[in-house]
Amino acid sequence: MKLAIGNDHTGVAMKNEIMAWLKEKGIEVVNVGTDSTERFDYAVSGYRIARLVADGEVDGGIAICGTGIGISLAANKVRGIRACVCSEPYSARLSKMHNNSNIIAFGARVVGVEMAKMIVEEWLSASFEGGRHARRVAQIMEIEETQHLKAAEQE
Ligand code: RB5
Repeated sequence: MKLAIGNDHTGVAMKNEIMAWLKEKGIEVVNVGTDSTERFDYAVSGYRIARLVADGEVDGGIAICGTGIGISLAANKVRGIRACVCSEPYSARLSKMHNNSNIIAFGARVVGVEMAKMIVEEWLSASFEGGRHARRVAQIMEIEETQHLKAAEQE
């Protein structure tokens, strides 16, 4: 497995801890975030992670900023990306099972490193369930592709 990881200036220490932990597990990690605590725009890292995921260069992405919000918003602007901000493991698991998330995001100012590891662990061990969830994810993609949703515009 190969993951992209990225961050802004708020997430350097957490990124380093998560990267080291993933490598211990034998997971390859591509670091596209900043390694400096000088201010760094989260959209740059969010885009870089999303690009690698959308292009199939990696199997998924981990995005870290202060809250996880800005970096996930940026990543979600890339076609095919479903970046989900999660502050606990239950939502992380469900984001994969129901929403087929391909990037998990969290806030370095919101969760501690041990919670972040649990979030990543649950997300990595979950699988998309498909079925009725596939229809709903397809609807999200339809909005992304067409800026419309037929199911909402009928009647
Ligand atoms: C940086 O101060 C902060 O705005 C950023 O890390 C993130 O939380 C934005 O969503």
